[in-house]
Amino acid sequence: MFETELTRTLNIRYPIFQAPMAGGPTTPDLVAAVSNAGALGNLGAGYLTPEQLRSTIHKIRELTDKPFGVNLFVPEQPEDSEEAVLQMMDHLSKYHVRYGIAQTPPSFESQEHFEEQVQVLREEKVPVFSFTFGIPAQEVIQAMKQQGTVVIGTATTVEEARQLDMAGVNAIVAQGYEAGGHRGTFLNNVSGSLIGTMALVPQIVDHVSVPVIASGGIMDGRGLLASLALGAGAVQMGTAFLASPESGAHEAYKQKLLSSNEDSTEITCAYSGKAARGIRTKFMNDMGQYSGTIPAYPVQNTLTREIRQAAAKANDPEYMSLWAGQGLRLVSEQSAETIVKQTIEQAISIHKSF
Ligand SMILES: Cc1cc2nc3c(=O)[nH]c(=O)nc-3n(C[C@H](O)[C@H](O)[C@H](O)COP(=O)(O)O)c2cc1C
Repeated sequence: MFETELTRTLNIRYPIFQAPMAGGPTTPDLVAAVSNAGALGNLGAGYLTPEQLRSTIHKIRELTDKPFGVNLFVPEQPEDSEEAVLQMMDHLSKYHVRYGIAQTPPSFESQEHFEEQVQVLREEKVPVFSFTFGIPAQEVIQAMKQQGTVVIGTATTVEEARQLDMAGVNAIVAQGYEAGGHRGTFLNNVSGSLIGTMALVPQIVDHVSVPVIASGGIMDGRGLLASLALGAGAVQMGTAFLASPESGAHEAYKQKLLSSNEDSTEITCAYSGKAARGIRTKFMNDMGQYSGTIPAYPVQNTLTREIRQAAAKANDPEYMSLWAGQGLRLVSEQSAETIVKQTIEQAISIHKSF
């Protein structure tokens, strides 16, 4: 049931992707559990060093022989003035004091190792390579495809999807406004690229030649069936898996996910300098006063890293980033396998009822 061109290409049973979620949630346990359940587990590897990336891929392979994906961030060159960075460091100093963190100047040496990460993915011949925040060079896309890796890009508008299609990707994630985590927007500004999943998916489907994966606010079989009806070849679900036992999300974050509602999230640049949807926190509210002067990603991400880590250590979710989509009331603590199974069973039962 629900076999699509994409499930055949990827050799998976169900048209469900567990979203790659960088920063810890997508543990090898989660990725493997989802793949073993017949869907596609995806590792969010944007922040991993090449060594961490290789060893994590090995761990996933110890836990599953099914296909899985690895997701990277296409790097960007921020252009913030030194003055803006120093000013932000000054604004953030109160949080350093709060957690007793030493005020050492952060190192901005390349935190991203995109080329080396790509090299690892090529050597490891991962089944699926997905990316967000832009389009990698042609050599990267072609080299991956030539070795048999399925290449998937992320779009938040039809024009972005068209450019990905022209660049030769095998499939496109259509990331709607509801989605948790960072916006993949790379052409126009984010505020002009906030299209709801219901509107975005069929319009992208109509304008590209490759399968589309619907993403943003999809939490169960209802969302899966609706997405297939809109023309998607699969769905990508992030928030739905965040509170599962296999997810590496912090315990305080999981509790927040389970107690939050559809109106609990906001899109903010406060944590990383790039627009992302997360559960509203004191940190987001405090930083509202500096909006417009927040250094771009990845600079702000580096500037807030120690604060987020200290908050996590102190079990203080108000200063952690709590990325989540708008489907929050539907979050469950079920195992990853159960989430996949229930999603499919619900979609089948609704389909039968028509
Ligand atoms: C905690 C979290 C981290 C995320 N990290 C990534 C990432 O590393 N790469 C990526 O392409 N998308 C990332 N996303 C976005 C997802 O791919 C997807 O668009 C989103 O989860 C879909 O919306 P949903 O959370 O409502 O299911 C992240 C989402 C969340 C919630």
